[in-house]
Amino acid sequence: MSAIDKLLGRMTLAEKLGQLTMTSASYAVTGPVIAGDSTDSIRDGTLGNLLNLVGAKHVHEMQRIAVEESRLRIPLLIGFDVIHGHRTIFPVPLAEAATFDPRVWELTAREAARETAADGLAMTFAPMLDVSRDLRWGRTVEGPGEDPWLAEQIARAKVRGFQGADLAQHDSVAATAKHFCAYGPVAGGRDYASVDISERTLREVHLPAFAAAVRAGVAAIMPAFTELGGIPLTMHRPLLRDYLRGELKFDGVIVSDYNAIRELIQHGVAGDIVEAAVLALRAGVDIDMMAEAYRKGLPVALERGLVTMDEIDECVLRVLRLKERLGLFDDPYRRGASAETPDVVAARRRLARDVAAKSLVLAKNSAGTLPLDAKVRRVSVIGPLADAWREMRGPWAAAGYEEPSVTTLAGLNEALPHAAVSHAEGVPIVGTNVSGIAAAVEAVSGADVVVLCLGEAAEMSGEAASRAFPELPGEQRKLAEAVLDRARRDDVRVVAVLFCGRPLIVPWLAERVDALLIAWFPGTEAGNAIADVLTGRVSPSGRTPITWPRALGQIPIFYSQRNSGRPENPSDHFTSKYLDSPNAPLFPFGFGLTYGRFAYANMTVSPETATLEDVIEVSVDVTNEGGRAAEETVFLFTRDRVACVARPTLELKGVTKISLLPGETGTARLRLPASDLRFLGLDLEPVHEPGEIEIHVGPCADLGQLVSSRVMVRA
Ligand code: NOJ
Repeated sequence: MSAIDKLLGRMTLAEKLGQLTMTSASYAVTGPVIAGDSTDSIRDGTLGNLLNLVGAKHVHEMQRIAVEESRLRIPLLIGFDVIHGHRTIFPVPLAEAATFDPRVWELTAREAARETAADGLAMTFAPMLDVSRDLRWGRTVEGPGEDPWLAEQIARAKVRGFQGADLAQHDSVAATAKHFCAYGPVAGGRDYASVDISERTLREVHLPAFAAAVRAGVAAIMPAFTELGGIPLTMHRPLLRDYLRGELKFDGVIVSDYNAIRELIQHGVAGDIVEAAVLALRAGVDIDMMAEAYRKGLPVALERGLVTMDEIDECVLRVLRLKERLGLFDDPYRRGASAETPDVVAARRRLARDVAAKSLVLAKNSAGTLPLDAKVRRVSVIGPLADAWREMRGPWAAAGYEEPSVTTLAGLNEALPHAAVSHAEGVPIVGTNVSGIAAAVEAVSGADVVVLCLGEAAEMSGEAASRAFPELPGEQRKLAEAVLDRARRDDVRVVAVLFCGRPLIVPWLAERVDALLIAWFPGTEAGNAIADVLTGRVSPSGRTPITWPRALGQIPIFYSQRNSGRPENPSDHFTSKYLDSPNAPLFPFGFGLTYGRFAYANMTVSPETATLEDVIEVSVDVTNEGGRAAEETVFLFTRDRVACVARPTLELKGVTKISLLPGETGTARLRLPASDLRFLGLDLEPVHEPGEIEIHVGPCADLGQLVSSRVMVRA
């Protein structure tokens, strides 16, 4: 009998339910004494897990109460939302996805884990893996974007980064893949709303990232708040028990979302807290976060015979095993035992700058507007996001350093010591005050260049931040148009820097500005990274991980649509198109310019006939025909034109990067395991169908820009 089994044997029901409960310590209350009741509960062994407590001193004090004063001395599991950096804030996840670089994803998670652990914590509620094809949904900012293959790569890298080589290490934390699953397609893009999608879309689009996280050894999974076809994920037996536990053999911890078990009553599937607790427990949810459903409901449920002690024990064992894997029984103080050295902190800050620069997407650059001329002497930085440091951190930088993040204004001032960099806010981010527009317009005259910083406020994306009008809020369009009118008159170039947690509908802006840099929310080092790219110290390399529509009515818009029986044909009325908008997006998935200009030639595919066991090697020569060194991102898409189930017109299967000097040619090589060409057949089981597969390689999901070849796949 293991030590954990023995421990279980000694536990009372109240102590067991304590291990299945997680409550908030609301760290905003400065000090270790959390709501008296919770401290007492830790002491009497009826509370085993916390969230929202930070700071090694406070965490250790709570652990001390647990391991010295409670009867069974079981350490606490303490989790926190470390979404894109803990103290040092990296770009928001959607922005990080834009780097298309697994090394970056892993590195930022590793550094976030080290900071989290240095704060005494052992668990994060990340990564968020919900594919989003509806930008109205505010939580798009937290996730990987629109593509399932990309989401899988991010899942693997993040789990590796957070958990390190061994969960017991003093700088590893348990990762939580969330929100399981299909939270993204909420009806109307409205947070928490119903989801109703086909079993095929569920399996093709929304499950793969979670499967990848489980295969990578993720410690925990959090079910989504939402319901799927009427069944809330918090009680979804087919998905939690049959799929996760059964098919994927996931034996980690399932932790509910905040109050989600109680919300089963609101969903309309439980009459009271007892029924809610039963439904969640029987579906396999181990930890009840903030609903008090297990502690209140399960004793009654046991009495009524609605659950068994074995079912409760199963959950308790999983929680205790996670604590064991995290090394908490051996030494509950291992995390946060020593402070980080200044050089570690400084290196992390450099990483934040580097990653932020890599996440910026240059969406337009007419006539070489960027990089800024080295001789630039007068720069007018205009707009409400030019000097708004808090906004730079994005919507969820919970414990992020309070010290100001670097703004574009500060970054440009630093980067251009010989230039006069002036600032005019023009209008607030939201609101109707236009009194600053006149001064902003005046600031255009005499400037060598205008940097127009527009966008959403950080809190306009994230949880409960869906938008029916995902455009520039407030009077920003008025400001932009006034500035652009004056700039045209005075022949001044305008560079727009757009801050957002999702694509915004801004075709007019893209049309009128000379250059457009999509900055998302870049984090602590925002302004320095933006200045690095604007001045050319860094050549931009970010690519949008989500399609930018030109009109709201195009949503949901994503590159991997199916062809339909009547694909768009402008000269045929009865084909799939709009009367009042092109089908084509403003910016396709994968789009992003660099300071180079790349041409593709000599694509090869080897072998030309492949079996399931083969790895297909695809290569293409890329030449930088531009005048500056740059890094090109090369995507590999496939298309299976004839299959038993209609396949998307493009499917992403690989990405690589190649850095080239002006005039230089290099060969980009991508590996495509033929087994990746399998898909879910008529019965939703993976099939391998012999036949021709098209292979398309190039800079983004726009067929017109891709070079193509094919491979024959044999049985
Ligand atoms: C609710 C959010 O949906 C989830 O992502 C988060 O981890 C929990 N709150 C805990 O803060």
